Amino acid sequence: MKTLLIIGIGAGDPDYLTVQAIKALNRADVFFLMDKGAAKDSLIDLRKHICERFIETPGYRFVEAPCPERARGVADYRASVVDLNQDKQQVFERMIGEDLADGEVGAFLVWGDPALYDSTLRIVETIVANSAEPIVYEVIPGITSLQALAAKHRVCFNSIGQPFQVTPARRLAEGFPEQLDSVLVMLDAQDTYRLFAEQDMDIYWGAYVGTADEVLIAGRLSEVAETIQRTRAALREQHGWIMDSYLLRRRDGQS
Ligand SMILES: C[S@@+](CC[C@H](N)C(=O)[O-])C[C@H]1O[C@@H](n2cnc3c(N)ncnc32)[C@H](O)[C@@H]1O
Repeated sequence: MKTLLIIGIGAGDPDYLTVQAIKALNRADVFFLMDKGAAKDSLIDLRKHICERFIETPGYRFVEAPCPERARGVADYRASVVDLNQDKQQVFERMIGEDLADGEVGAFLVWGDPALYDSTLRIVETIVANSAEPIVYEVIPGITSLQALAAKHRVCFNSIGQPFQVTPARRLAEGFPEQLDSVLVMLDAQDTYRLFAEQDMDIYWGAYVGTADEVLIAGRLSEVAETIQRTRAALREQHGWIMDSYLLRRRDGQS
């Protein structure tokens, strides 16, 4: 029997690790590391730092594999993600097959929480369902980037008694949901908040939240949109990559 642990490590600050995550780290024999793009080195370094800091008994090992990248500029976004996940599945299967012995525990360290815009759970579920050898897996939740963002800005996701939405920016570009006053936006490569700069809204924006590079900006959207856009571009240029998210809230909503 092989065991897989899918561990949410929080969104940047090693202090975000939960006690449950630390216990899980200490059970693992092998850590599978797969990051990609310009952020790869710093994200892998952070995972190694987390292991060094929280694991009491050395003896664990890292297995690194290049992470496949999604085809860009493809009209059918969903199909491109399905293709990407199939490619990732092959890499995961190879690592689990070749680098994890029977009886061992392997771990995937997932940024933030594994349930939020991350494909690891879906991929592992498919692998386990199709595996010829017995594999069990567990999921350990983590602090999401949205929780970190809200805490840094000292705001709630929702106004009193109201629902809110979490969305990738590509869906927000279709319009601000009519029935809602609060929307949390992730995966925005296009400064989508600018589309609403004429509307009476507040924005709570954060980049690299929880890390040493964290930058936060909040205010009336019409007044800070340009500053955020300029800051984003400069940070992206400086670091070579950016991860940012934000809360948009109509000002006529209740706080
Ligand atoms: C693929 S999703 C992964 C989300 C992750 N599973 C979580 O729980 O936060 C990546 C997006 O999360 C957001 N994100 C992740 N970490 C962040 C951070 N430290 N600061 C701001 N946004 C972050 C960005 O919107 C980024 O585009």
